Amino acid sequence: MIYRPKIIGTGSCLPKRQLSNTDLEKLVDTSDEWITTRTGIKNRHIAGKGEETSQLAAHAASKALQMAKVEAEEVDLIIVGTMTPDMTMPSCACLVQKNIEAINAFALDLNAACSGFLYGLDIAEKYIKVNPEMKILVIGAETLSMRVNWQDRNTCVLFGDGAGACVLTGVDNGSGMLGSSLYSDGSLWQLLSMEGAPSMNPDLLRPDSKEGSFIRMVGKDVFRYAVRAMEDAVFGILEAENLNPKDIKLVIPHQANIRILRSLVERLELSEEKIYINIHKYGNTSAASIPIALDEANQKGLLKEGDLLLMCAFGGGFTWGANVIQW
Ligand code: UT7
Repeated sequence: MIYRPKIIGTGSCLPKRQLSNTDLEKLVDTSDEWITTRTGIKNRHIAGKGEETSQLAAHAASKALQMAKVEAEEVDLIIVGTMTPDMTMPSCACLVQKNIEAINAFALDLNAACSGFLYGLDIAEKYIKVNPEMKILVIGAETLSMRVNWQDRNTCVLFGDGAGACVLTGVDNGSGMLGSSLYSDGSLWQLLSMEGAPSMNPDLLRPDSKEGSFIRMVGKDVFRYAVRAMEDAVFGILEAENLNPKDIKLVIPHQANIRILRSLVERLELSEEKIYINIHKYGNTSAASIPIALDEANQKGLLKEGDLLLMCAFGGGFTWGANVIQW
């Protein structure tokens, strides 16, 4: 019998405060027209007090558990993909465990930047293969607004905060995660990085700080790699699973730039409605972007039993990958 991890519940949480492109025009030398045409972003959510990464993650997790009809005490493992935990120790996952009172779970963070959710699903798959009865929460949660330099127009217009979560357990009916392929290339780390730990050392957040802990990106180079790497990962997993792009009902990609997503649509020769796009509402929420989009698509009923879902991501590290799930 082959057991596969199946997503039995999804949830998401966005901070209350919103920041539009027009709001940003008052902060830096930018325009709604530039941001919209170069990135597809119109709006993003910004976390405030009481909306720390662990809080957003816990809210998303509670909603996913509710949909899955799973009690918090039944959860065996919590994995949080994040590069913006509340603090260096304890992990964000331990704080989520406390907040939702998942008293029987063990909990860990993983940092694979924007690919964190896909990496988390892959780890969950390995546990479920060994013990199909496990109930695992995989969460992507970020508060990147804390880590952007609000004086740098190259980066501050791009990112937003939020969290998405899903509950997985093993099934043997042919559905669930069919396959996943993950990649990393640490040699290119300098093209996209974020140094330091500002929660412990607020001085690092000063724009004149030499160590500066802000997110830094060589946008054009990252763009080029992102397009190629994500497309290669997608074609790789399709080939491995003996699938044709036309077999896929919905693609949920990491939301970094509308132009990257359009290039993917073109390469896959799919119509644009087969790719889930919500970057205009939330910007780039890193590890949270795929699970937020997944929850939205699920809530809208876009996925029916048996449908094939393809997810793909690219982020700092570099890290990237893709997976295919039979819903
Ligand atoms: O999630 C992880 C992976 N991340 C990504 O995949 C992101 C990949 N990169 C990108 O999405 C794009 O490279 C950006 C959206 C970041 C930038 O777009 P671009 O078309 O590559 O623009 P650019 O950086 O080459 O800048 C073009 C011009 C520059 O002006 P000059 O030198 O041509 O005079 C920039 O200074 O646009 C200027 N610019 C802006 N202008 C208005 C840069 N940011 C802004 C801005 N508003 N916010």
